[in-house]
Amino acid sequence: MADTLTITDNRTGQTYEVPITDGTINAIDLRKIRVDDGDFGLMSYDPSYKNTAACRSAITFIDGDLGILRYRGYPIEQLAEQSQYLEVAYLLLYGELPTSSQYEQWVHDVTHHTYVHESLKRGMDGYRYDSHPMGRLIALLATLSTFYDDAKQVHDRKNRREHIVKIIAKMPTLAAWAYRHSLGRPYVYPDNDLGYAGNFLSMLFKLAEPKYKPHPVLERALDVLFILHADHEQNCSTSAARAVGSSEADPYVSLAAAAAALYGPLHGGANEAVLRMLTKIGDLKAVPEFISSVKKGESLLMGFGHRVYKNYDPRAKVIKRLADEVFHVTGRNPLLDIALELETIALNDDYFVKRKLYPNVDFYSGLIYQAMGFPVEMFPVLFAIPRASGWLAQWQEMLEDPEQKIARPRQIYTGHNERPYVPMNKRG
Ligand code: CMC
Repeated sequence: MADTLTITDNRTGQTYEVPITDGTINAIDLRKIRVDDGDFGLMSYDPSYKNTAACRSAITFIDGDLGILRYRGYPIEQLAEQSQYLEVAYLLLYGELPTSSQYEQWVHDVTHHTYVHESLKRGMDGYRYDSHPMGRLIALLATLSTFYDDAKQVHDRKNRREHIVKIIAKMPTLAAWAYRHSLGRPYVYPDNDLGYAGNFLSMLFKLAEPKYKPHPVLERALDVLFILHADHEQNCSTSAARAVGSSEADPYVSLAAAAAALYGPLHGGANEAVLRMLTKIGDLKAVPEFISSVKKGESLLMGFGHRVYKNYDPRAKVIKRLADEVFHVTGRNPLLDIALELETIALNDDYFVKRKLYPNVDFYSGLIYQAMGFPVEMFPVLFAIPRASGWLAQWQEMLEDPEQKIARPRQIYTGHNERPYVPMNKRG
């Protein structure tokens, strides 16, 4: 049996043979299917890329039907159990788990680039205290581009590594300062004695104490949440990073674009939307009425459903367990009961079962964030910090892929044919 697809064009009666590689046909092969010489050739139409692979990638594997997620072959459950975020970031970026000396160097480099230029502090001050911290993070990430002109040398590996380190190092600083600005608290500078998550907690929550000591359970929980959010193959924000980066824009602005995509409530803004939804439901008794409004199409059950997972999101399983550990320290989030009830009803209701709608990563993460003291506006920011390593790994892979060119989809034009300009005084 040949690994080909035979297509008969019933408009012309012609038959074409198209190779199948990795279960995929190359869309450009369709162009040879033409009615006549003047014909542009056949295209495929795939709004929202529901069935189009836009790249080859060796970074993250998802089996949406089986609920499997692996980074570079390692199951997410094992990484969440045994690894640390910075190790996972290295794995995503460089393909292998680091040796101890590689890891030591990597942690050293990231730790020593956490400071940001003082003008960024003044930049942060320019925003209204009640503006959304995600908006500020996106803006300041793009602003970093103006400090590093050499970041434009995107094909220089060494140079790329420097800026990858800088971005991973500075994300928590910008994120923490965005939070402090909302509260009118002085910014806290990074503490190099602390780990990645611990230092972030210090920059967020340190008050007058000379040295901030993160609670080990909360520090570990945050690190695990960072691992779970680090990459998720070709999602909306990663596709944005790849698309913008494909024009050879520098990594700072490419990541600002990715962060902007993440901001939306259907993507990284979903955990914020879940908390707002749970707060609005407010009482266990109101759950059935809310579910019936979802089934009537009046609202979405936020934190449910996924373009790829048609099974329980494996990250949601880890987060549900993590929630117990966190609540043991912080006290139980009262909204948890509403979330559990929504899940129980939804998993047994035909509407959700038929559509294969299961809890995704955002359904329980917000409850943990809230219990740890984060306001809902910070949730997408907390998502963006670790996703930066995934965006950078994907951006780098795209730059090194000889098959990739500037991203430029086609369209089916549905507008007017040519028509003459009408002067204003003659318009109806
Ligand atoms: N609540 C109620 N109905 C839903 C939901 C939901 N959360 N999600 C999908 N559906 C329904 C949808 O109305 C449609 O029904 P019908 O066939 O009758 O028209 C069907 O399920 C298929 O949905 P879809 O919109 O075609 O699926 P999609 O792959 O385009 O959308 C999604 C995926 C994640 C955008 C969507 O499920 C959604 O809006 N979920 C809520 C927001 C959310 O939790 N987002 C976080 C995603 S995971 C983290 C991340 O990627 O950032």
